[in-house]
Amino acid sequence: MPGNATNQSLPIHGNYHGYYSKRPFTRDPRLTLLPAEFFVGKRVLDVGCNEGWVACEIGQFRGARQVIGVDIDDTLIRAAWRRRRTVWSLQSPEGGNISGENHLPPKRQRIDHDTSTMDNDVQNYFPASCEHSYGPLPVPDRGCDAFPHNVMFRTADWVKDEIPEDNIQYDIILGFSISKWIHLNARDEGLRQFFYRVHKCLKTGGVFVFEPQPWDTYSKARRMSETLKENAKHLQLRPDGFGELIEALGFDHGQRLGVTGEGGFRRPVDTYTKQ
Ligand SMILES: C[S@@+](CC[C@H](N)C(=O)[O-])C[C@H]1O[C@@H](n2cnc3c(N)ncnc32)[C@H](O)[C@@H]1O
Repeated sequence: MPGNATNQSLPIHGNYHGYYSKRPFTRDPRLTLLPAEFFVGKRVLDVGCNEGWVACEIGQFRGARQVIGVDIDDTLIRAAWRRRRTVWSLQSPEGGNISGENHLPPKRQRIDHDTSTMDNDVQNYFPASCEHSYGPLPVPDRGCDAFPHNVMFRTADWVKDEIPEDNIQYDIILGFSISKWIHLNARDEGLRQFFYRVHKCLKTGGVFVFEPQPWDTYSKARRMSETLKENAKHLQLRPDGFGELIEALGFDHGQRLGVTGEGGFRRPVDTYTKQ
């Protein structure tokens, strides 16, 4: 049950609140490893989206057609919807449209080729104090599929439960910093099921972008609860072997894009293409 996560006082699913205050970014460093055009026109699922920062960035600046963020924790999903509204409220009225023709839907989506410039011009056009003083800007009625309409969120334990959006296969599925939590809660079988679901829900040629947590980070996490401690005793799979498992499901050999993050967040990012 997705709701269970919110009943726990400890974030045993990695359902940290305020996660991005510990891992702050203007542009997520993991996304910068991917080519600028990677998300353009694509349908993207972000599994374990937390407060929706990554999903919003992809929907707002990377030209995705649709981004669905799913998380087991309903409180985080509510925060993700708020994040979408906040990001919308800070955005320049021109949005991502450099030419100023903001009534033309496709041009409202900014595609960042150079992530170091114009951040403040577009992303932080209005100061955060505007939203604090006057409330968020209303999201206009639908009428186009540009940001923020191209971003939505759902609460689900995506390893066990399907969401309606799964019925149309995705072009890209993100699994950022989630494998350890699935592994510790649902053991080897749960992790295998996660990879199986990723394969099933991707189109042929679709890409799984995966940031596994290294094995040495499990020991601190499992101390969070007796259940996780017990589950950890039964784990046979190791993060170094995940690539082989994924390949065996019908993905290519995979590619390591790089390693990003500081301190305990220093992790590899890999891509696997469904054959
Ligand atoms: C450590 S956070 C990573 C957040 C985000 N993916 C990132 O890297 O920026 C892990 C997230 O996965 C979510 N999560 C864990 N197990 C899940 C499951 N079975 N289905 C959906 N979300 C899950 C947690 O609630 C949490 O928000």
